[in-house]
Amino acid sequence: MPTGLILGIESSCDETAAAIVERGSAIRSNVVASQIATHSPYGGVVPELASREHLRNIVPVVRAAVEQAGLALSSIDAIAVTSGPGLAGALMVGISYAKALAFALGKPLIAINHLEGHIHAVLLEQAQLAEAEDRELPDGPVLALVVSGGHTHLYLARHTGESWSYRNVGRTLDDAAGEAYDKVAKLLGLGYPGGPWIDALAAHGNPHAVPFAISNIKAKAHRGGRKGITSYMATQEQDEHLSEGSTAFASGDDLQHEIPDTLFSFSGIKTAVLRYTQVHEMQASIEHRRAVLATMPDAKPSTALAEVLAVCDQPTLDLIASFQRAVVDDLRRKTFRTAEALGATTLLVSGGVAANRELRVRFTAEAADRDLYIAFPSLALSTDNAAMIAAAAWPKFLSRDFAPETLSADPGLALGR
Ligand code: KG4
Ligand code: ZN
Repeated sequence: MPTGLILGIESSCDETAAAIVERGSAIRSNVVASQIATHSPYGGVVPELASREHLRNIVPVVRAAVEQAGLALSSIDAIAVTSGPGLAGALMVGISYAKALAFALGKPLIAINHLEGHIHAVLLEQAQLAEAEDRELPDGPVLALVVSGGHTHLYLARHTGESWSYRNVGRTLDDAAGEAYDKVAKLLGLGYPGGPWIDALAAHGNPHAVPFAISNIKAKAHRGGRKGITSYMATQEQDEHLSEGSTAFASGDDLQHEIPDTLFSFSGIKTAVLRYTQVHEMQASIEHRRAVLATMPDAKPSTALAEVLAVCDQPTLDLIASFQRAVVDDLRRKTFRTAEALGATTLLVSGGVAANRELRVRFTAEAADRDLYIAFPSLALSTDNAAMIAAAAWPKFLSRDFAPETLSADPGLALGR
């Protein structure tokens, strides 16, 4: 007799996570071991260190998830694991452990695309709302923006029967939005990951002080051309239609809209911020801030904002606020334009950058203006976690879409077509 309990395991980047979720919606446990302290001195994720930390953490993290759920491992129906995209060595740790566990317990193994996991972080909580308040997502096309440290993707998502399918309708040509946050934070002498610091500090600056031209981002997106596309971001078909910017729906699609091919580019704004600091001779204040932050390795915006504000002069805060406004504006404009082109009635926004306060406020306001239903995950489910992996596995469990014993890491795994 199935219990509806799925153990999810996530190790694609710098978080080792395990969770048990019942029927894709009820979180029985959700454990995340962050590696921030390990990578922080380097200002970014070091792949070899990530694999080592996953190896250290995987057993205690899975054990904690099982204990916190108050269950015996034998009561779960299946084990779900992230198979890509992500760091090869990091993914392999989760996959090897999940395979061994599935084999030992005689349970099926389900492979989950990390990006689908992020989308299910929102769907999981929407399913909870549906149960509690008896309300469903509106009928009509669903557009999902996944915006994180590794990804900036737009998907047209469809729910057919139990399963979800996806079509990629937007992507970045170079850096992901979260990557831009992290790189700009690093070059300004702030801590890692940079997104939460910029989010907190931007509230103290003037977002109109530095006129970062959004057209910089747009122009670069088109100039970047095909060279900037990594293999997992574009299918052959999308690549061919890049210059056109949209393609017709393939036969069999029942929507009467063109499929847009929305392009983002965030490497230009990072360079613009660097140039601004050079022209305005901000180096000394950056080095001072870096030195102060180096003495506070565990500093987080929630615990050390006052200390960090004390080493940020007003021009720096204005620069941070202007950077954030430019990025959020670009994400907002292109996402809503795509939603309109597709006739979307629902917008799901997920991934680490979806935790950003300004993004949530501005997206929510525009969705209200356009009468579009918008949903974000709670903050805990915005960044990487395994509850989203277990939730994404539930439809696959119902349709018996199990992974072969030969499952391996796929660092460049694409989602949808
Ligand atoms: O989804 P995630 O945990 O990992 C990936 O799949 O990449 O996202 C991490 C990214 C980092 O780049 C981090 O700086 C960014 O999300 N991030 C934020 C915020 N919180 C995390 N960016 C902007 N504002 C935030 N509040
Ligand atoms: Zn992620």
